[in-house]
Amino acid sequence: MDRDQFRQLVIEQFRLGQDSAHFEDHWLRVEAYGLHLGRLYRADLEVIRLFALLHDSQRFEECYDPEHGPRAARFAELHCGKSFSLEPPQLELLTEACRDHDRGFTHRNATIACCWDADRLDLDRVCIAPDPNYMSTGEGKRLALKRAWDRQKEAGIRIS
Ligand SMILES: [Fe+2]
Ligand SMILES: [Fe+2]
Repeated sequence: MDRDQFRQLVIEQFRLGQDSAHFEDHWLRVEAYGLHLGRLYRADLEVIRLFALLHDSQRFEECYDPEHGPRAARFAELHCGKSFSLEPPQLELLTEACRDHDRGFTHRNATIACCWDADRLDLDRVCIAPDPNYMSTGEGKRLALKRAWDRQKEAGIRIS
């Protein structure tokens, strides 16, 4: 299965519909922020791409759904080796990043740090200002203090 086919599969199984704040537009912005951060910190860009696609893909509830991270981690494990390929250490990073992404932790591993910062930099889509205190990277902290418009421009996000 190539990357586009897997993306399509993930989109088709998403349960919350087109208008969800946790759907594809969010995934694409998380990918853009994540790649911006990941290039700066020499993180694993493949893990970041997969995190962006998968981390919210197993939400069953729009608002309160504390198990959506662990579910995303299990979905990643299930599809690794079938729908995409990662080395075992990469899969470990991806599953930890997915499992704990909404717990408010920071992380010292560059790849997980970039994944979590990328997700939190898109919080203003739900009217929550990104908070530098919850960012793991210096660049994440810097971007968190910018207005959404400027932040998205810096990360190369096309504003629709
Ligand atoms: Fe989430
Ligand atoms: Fe998210």
